[in-house]
Amino acid sequence: MHKLSTNKAIIYTLLGGMIAFNALAQKIPVNYDESKMPAYTLPDPLVLPNGKPIKSKEAWEKTGRPAVLKLFAENVYGVNPFPGPVKITSEVRSVNENALGGKAVSKQITLRFPEISPTLALNILLYLPKNVQKAPVFVSLNFTGNHTATHEKDVFVTENWVNSGFDKTFANNRATEASRGIAERRWPMEAIIARGYAVATAYYGDLEADHAEGWKMGLRSVLTPEQREKWSAIGVWAWSMSRMADYLIQNEAQIDRKKLIAVGHSRIGKATLWAAAEDPRFSIVISNDSGEGGAALSRRWIGETVEHLNTQFPHWFCANYKKYNKAVSELPVDQHELLALMAPRPLYVASATEDTWADPKGEFLGAVEAEKVYQLYKKTGLGTTTMPMPNSPVGQTIGYHIREGKHDILRYDWEQYMNFADKHVEIK
Ligand code: GCU
Repeated sequence: MHKLSTNKAIIYTLLGGMIAFNALAQKIPVNYDESKMPAYTLPDPLVLPNGKPIKSKEAWEKTGRPAVLKLFAENVYGVNPFPGPVKITSEVRSVNENALGGKAVSKQITLRFPEISPTLALNILLYLPKNVQKAPVFVSLNFTGNHTATHEKDVFVTENWVNSGFDKTFANNRATEASRGIAERRWPMEAIIARGYAVATAYYGDLEADHAEGWKMGLRSVLTPEQREKWSAIGVWAWSMSRMADYLIQNEAQIDRKKLIAVGHSRIGKATLWAAAEDPRFSIVISNDSGEGGAALSRRWIGETVEHLNTQFPHWFCANYKKYNKAVSELPVDQHELLALMAPRPLYVASATEDTWADPKGEFLGAVEAEKVYQLYKKTGLGTTTMPMPNSPVGQTIGYHIREGKHDILRYDWEQYMNFADKHVEIK
C-alpha cells in the first residue's frame, strides 16, 4: 500500500482516498532491501552530548532526559512557544445522556485560548462509559472530523479544512453530512466503552490544517516567522492533545486524571509520541503505525526517509529537520530515544505487515532500543529482541504487535491496546 513506485503516478491509499506524492518526493530513492541498507550507529540515550554516561534513573531525569528532549525539540518536532499552563475556556455544546445505545454519555466541548487567539477552537467529542465511576481515557486525534468517527447523528460536522484526498465525500476541502461515520472502523467506540474506558477525540486539523499553508489559519499564525519555523504542525497537533488533557483533568470528574492514554495512528502517531514526550500527564502511550518520524529508526534506509517526509510534508517538522535530508547519520538523536522519553510509562508500539512504507522492523527495533532506559527503572520493556509473528503481541512495560494487513488502526489494534492498558491501570 505504501510502496512508492517511480515510473507512474505515485499514490497511496489512506482512508480509501488517493493522494498524489509531489513530483520532488517521487524522485527520492526508496529501498526495501535490508541487504542494501548501509550500516548505521545509533546515538546512545544513556550518553550525554558531552560524552558523560548516565547510570541511574535520577541522572536520567535530571540531565539525560532533558538533554534528549531538547535535541528532539530543536532538530525534529520544534520548540513549543506555548509550553503552558495555557488559559483555556471551555463550552459544553451538547450532552447526550443516551449515547451508544444508552451505554455512554457523550459530550461535545469547545476549547478556546483567549490569551493566544480570539478565533481558534478545539472541538472535543467525549464518550464516558456509564458503568464506571472513574474511567481511564483514550485521548486521540482523528484525521477527518469528529463526525466521521461515529454514526451518531448529533455529532457536529467539522467546519474546518479537510483533505479532499482522504475521502470521496469531501469536496473542495469541506466535510458534509455525507461523511458521517466514514472512519468508524477506526473507532470501535462501543467496544471501548464496554471495557470501561472513555474516549476523547478531536479533529487534528482544528489548530493547524494539514497542508503547507495550513499554519496561516492556525495556531502558528500568531507567531513571528522565526518562532513559526522553529515549531511545526506536528508540534501543534501534539499541543492540541495536551489541551485535551488540561480540559479532561480540570473539568471531567468522571475521568481518572492519572490514567490518560495517548494513542494515535500514523502522522497522528508521530504527534502522539511527541505529545507524550513533552507532557508526562499521559500515563500510557500508544503508537499505531507511526513509521518514519515516529517509532521507526530514521537511520534505517527502508521505506520512507527523513528526506521523503520533509519533501512531501514540509510543514510537519521544524525547519532544522531539513538539514538531515541527506545526512541522517548526523541527526543527534534517533527515534528509539523518543520512545525512551516515555520511560518508565507503559508504551505500546504497533505495526502492520503490509505497511512496509512505515518500516515495521524499524518500529520494532525502536522499541527494542528504548529498553535500556526502562532498565534504569528496573522495568522490562519488550523483554525480547526477536520480532514476533503477525498477530502475536509481546512485551511487558513496552508492548508490540504487528497486525496482519494494511496501514490502518482497526478493532484488532484497539483490542491489544485495551488488553495492555488493563494490565497497567485498574478501573474503578
Ligand atoms: C504518509 C506519510 C507517512 C504517514 C502517513 C499517514 O504515508 O508518508 O509518514 O505516517 O502518510 O499519516 O497515514
